[in-house]
Amino acid sequence: MEITLTTGKKIACPSGASVLEALKQAGIYLTSSCGGKGTCGKCKVIVKSGPAESLSKIKLSKEELGRGYALACKTFPSGDLLIDIPKESMLTVEGKVVTGKAKDLLALLHSTGAPMRPLTGRVVLNLPPPTIDDNISDLERLKRELFAQGMACLRVPFRFMPGLAKTIRKENWEITLCTIHTEDCEEIICIKSGYKKIPRYGVAVDIGTTTVVVFLIDLTNGNLIDVASTYNSQIRFGDDVITRIVHATEHNKLRELNAAVLSDINNLLTIIRRNHHVDMDSIDCFVVAGNTTMTHLFLGLDPSAIREEPYIPTANTFPLSYAGELGIKADPNIPVYVFPCVASYVGGDIVSGVLAAQIYRKHELSIFIDIGTNGEIVIGNSEWLASAACSAGPCFEGSGIKCGMRATDGAIEGVKINRETLEVEIKVIGDDGTVPVGICGSGMIDAIAEMFLTGIIDQKGKLQREISNRVREGENGPEFVVYPGIGGDIVLAEPDIENIVRAKAAIYAGFSTILKEVGFTFNDVQKVYIAGGFGRFLDIEKAIMIGMLPDLPKERFEYLGNTSVTGAYLCLLSRKLREEAEEVARKMTYLELSVSHIFMNEYISGLFIPHTNIDSFPNVKKLMNK
Ligand code: FES
Repeated sequence: MEITLTTGKKIACPSGASVLEALKQAGIYLTSSCGGKGTCGKCKVIVKSGPAESLSKIKLSKEELGRGYALACKTFPSGDLLIDIPKESMLTVEGKVVTGKAKDLLALLHSTGAPMRPLTGRVVLNLPPPTIDDNISDLERLKRELFAQGMACLRVPFRFMPGLAKTIRKENWEITLCTIHTEDCEEIICIKSGYKKIPRYGVAVDIGTTTVVVFLIDLTNGNLIDVASTYNSQIRFGDDVITRIVHATEHNKLRELNAAVLSDINNLLTIIRRNHHVDMDSIDCFVVAGNTTMTHLFLGLDPSAIREEPYIPTANTFPLSYAGELGIKADPNIPVYVFPCVASYVGGDIVSGVLAAQIYRKHELSIFIDIGTNGEIVIGNSEWLASAACSAGPCFEGSGIKCGMRATDGAIEGVKINRETLEVEIKVIGDDGTVPVGICGSGMIDAIAEMFLTGIIDQKGKLQREISNRVREGENGPEFVVYPGIGGDIVLAEPDIENIVRAKAAIYAGFSTILKEVGFTFNDVQKVYIAGGFGRFLDIEKAIMIGMLPDLPKERFEYLGNTSVTGAYLCLLSRKLREEAEEVARKMTYLELSVSHIFMNEYISGLFIPHTNIDSFPNVKKLMNK
């Protein structure tokens, strides 16, 4: 069977395969955040003609069904099909690097003062051919040359010995060695014939519970070549880390979870490599950051004890591993550096984030918060670091929100509601004229703050029908139409709002608990660094207004974006920063919030907008009384 796309492209569809599987096999990736279970509604296609059995019609409106929409994961062709893929269904791969982002990364690296020293290096040797008078072995010849160039110690793993004689002679005694510095010695990780010093690339990976992000970096100058991201396809086994641990242990599916994240990384890398014509051979190393559970699942380690008191991971630090051992599609000998974790619920992504925010180098007291799936917080300075995790849930990354999506093209990232007319103005990520297809975390925060200020929701987050004609009865109860779209309205329903209010309450409770535990107040905090998958722009005032962030002067906040992958970038390029990351992980203490009474009380107080104790939000109080 054959599937023809309206672009003219034709792909084969094996018998019994869904449209989603067939597209995937052809290298066309759709957003499939439930992993093909038919529950997320993100993989829509339009069947223009041809016979197909559609096993699920949930997540589709009557209007969509009438226009031929179908879920690709639940659509099984029984003959040739002609389909159209709506833009919003395409897996978002950021095909062009925002120049500013690349410059910011380099500037950050330079600002640390750490010399650029990538995880791996390449050396080209022109060896003198042996003669009857110079008859030392190939290996000794190679070592003699390296030591003459100043190398003090060299380890040659046995796996390189069988091919050495051939490789060394292939291009007239010119060879390129790739090396990594480990345990005070250089270790060979690849031997190539001839001059292969450039191009060479490294890959920085952030494995989030909800999303996987891959950076391709030019190791010769630190330039970011491209970025790709996708939903973590482990989502089909559950939205949060606990359900995935249960799945890995009680259902013996550790291998499947491991394979899911590996295929995400491999797919993203394939797309980026293809877009930039980068050979597999030019990729020299990987640095991976993820929370403790994601790190375990990526490495295939048993995560079962992470979820049971006293919450113990298999390991918090990980020996260097190699692509071939892990199943990464690259030269099997290239190294994979995995960020150290702190505890079961404060992982390598947070160590990486602290590295990117540099709070461990500053005297002033700072808060670092990563608002991803869990909401991890670190408070401290150059003397000490304390951390905790508050389970905020993945709603700000779009998961569990009817029209939620990540902060990519087509996401509503800003919402304004006119105080008098109640007209809604939106800001959408993408070029001018980009049609909105969903709402991302910063858009949700804006929308809740604006709805609260205009009285469309009350302090408990309940929608008030009599205030706005945009409030209507939806399939899950009352909902607010943020944007009336042609392909379907973008709404925030009451369960979405409840979800967001619970998440913001957990985050604020996390801040106040940790500060109380270490004997400080919000007034002692000089800087608040915010990381997470929001859009280019998180409106701090709105986040304060809904009671997610403390009511501090705006200039004390700084939004840093995805710091996990930024820290991975820094470690990929600097040995000094890798050492600092390891030091950060060693010195950070961890507070367990799930057994804290302070946290429980603070959380319950935070289930109002902005907070039960309005006096802790004096500026919001002023606005409310206007
Ligand atoms: Fe198809 Fe989720 S509904 S992938």
